[in-house]
Amino acid sequence: MTQLKNDRLLRAIAGEPVDATPVWMMRQAGRYLPEYRALREKAGSFMALCQNADWACEVTIQPLERFDLDAAILFSDILTIPDAMGLGLYFEPGEGPVFQHRVTSKADVDALPELDAETDLGYVMRAVSTIRRELNGRVPLIGFSGSPWTLATYMVEGGSSKDFRGIKRLMMESPEVLEALLDKLAKAVTDYLNAQIRAGAQVVQIFDTWGGALSPHAYQAFSLRYMQRIIDGLIREHDGRRVPAIVFTKNGGQWLETMADCGADCLGLDWTTNIGTARQRVGDRVALQGNLDPSTLYAPDDVIRSEVQRILAEWGQGSGHVFNLGHGVHLDVDPDKAKVFVDAVHELSQDYHQF
Ligand code: CP3
Repeated sequence: MTQLKNDRLLRAIAGEPVDATPVWMMRQAGRYLPEYRALREKAGSFMALCQNADWACEVTIQPLERFDLDAAILFSDILTIPDAMGLGLYFEPGEGPVFQHRVTSKADVDALPELDAETDLGYVMRAVSTIRRELNGRVPLIGFSGSPWTLATYMVEGGSSKDFRGIKRLMMESPEVLEALLDKLAKAVTDYLNAQIRAGAQVVQIFDTWGGALSPHAYQAFSLRYMQRIIDGLIREHDGRRVPAIVFTKNGGQWLETMADCGADCLGLDWTTNIGTARQRVGDRVALQGNLDPSTLYAPDDVIRSEVQRILAEWGQGSGHVFNLGHGVHLDVDPDKAKVFVDAVHELSQDYHQF
């Protein structure tokens, strides 16, 4: 078993005592950091950064050099899977991700190849093992994937969407076609996450960014069900240690009770749910991760600290909490504010971990 110098994240997810609450930030690597922008410029494109293991490693570690973070997250993207399936991902300035080919029919779903993550997404596995070597046990490495539903929204819509009319129309007109797509994606995600675990990811997170756009019934049937299937198929122990799974459904706060039974070790919360109430609702079935509104990082330092204090007080005493933002860091925040946030979590949380 590789020795970890900082195992707060794994301990907190397991509900074991910690000296302070662990903290990391979704999208902690990225455009708000000038050193990221410099390397991105040199690489030429975002995908070139992801596909070069040394660059992906450097970018993953950049935020750890600035902030006292308790985890690293693989630098990559959720859209690597549909890209590897041949949909032709590119990024249009100001528009976000776009696919050259959309998936809209049974024939399109049938034509999607079954991936072998080790080879078809070999660049991701090389990045994972390079990062693990470079981290040398400093903090655990989180691997990730999009949820089948969230990936399907991009594949059917052809890019980002506000109202998901394309995929919801498919859901209403031909649910069996959507189910066939989600089924293929669930298999691909399971294989992809297991390959990341074998390459060295010590925790995995499923980003279900758009699950909250569904009705309660449709969320169960078209998102949660497939995430549950993925978790059932995950390697749960590797290198002598449990590999915990985190499920983050943005806007999923109203479904926590059912989500707590999906097999995940930890649920991510956005900022619209009170974490103390959420803790009561899930009991000790799962740990919780969250949930500072990322916009708080625009506030004066003392406001950031008092908002951190508020969430710590809502959670209360004891382990089982991983501090995070409720969604990714905004691209125009001042990096110094992220430092205020991370330091506040460590400093102010100590009082909640006394015996
Ligand atoms: O968290 C991290 O630091 C790890 C890296 C990471 C990225 N994307 C890097 C990235 C992670 C975990 C993601 C996940 C991701 N990607 C999600 C789910 C999480 C979420 O934020 O809801 C989604 C929906 C995507 C799809 C995607 N990729 C979008 C919407 C964008 C932004 C497009 C834009 O131009 O604003 C991307 C590109 C992307 N992924 C960037 C980064 C740092 C910016 C690319 C650049 O440098 O130009």
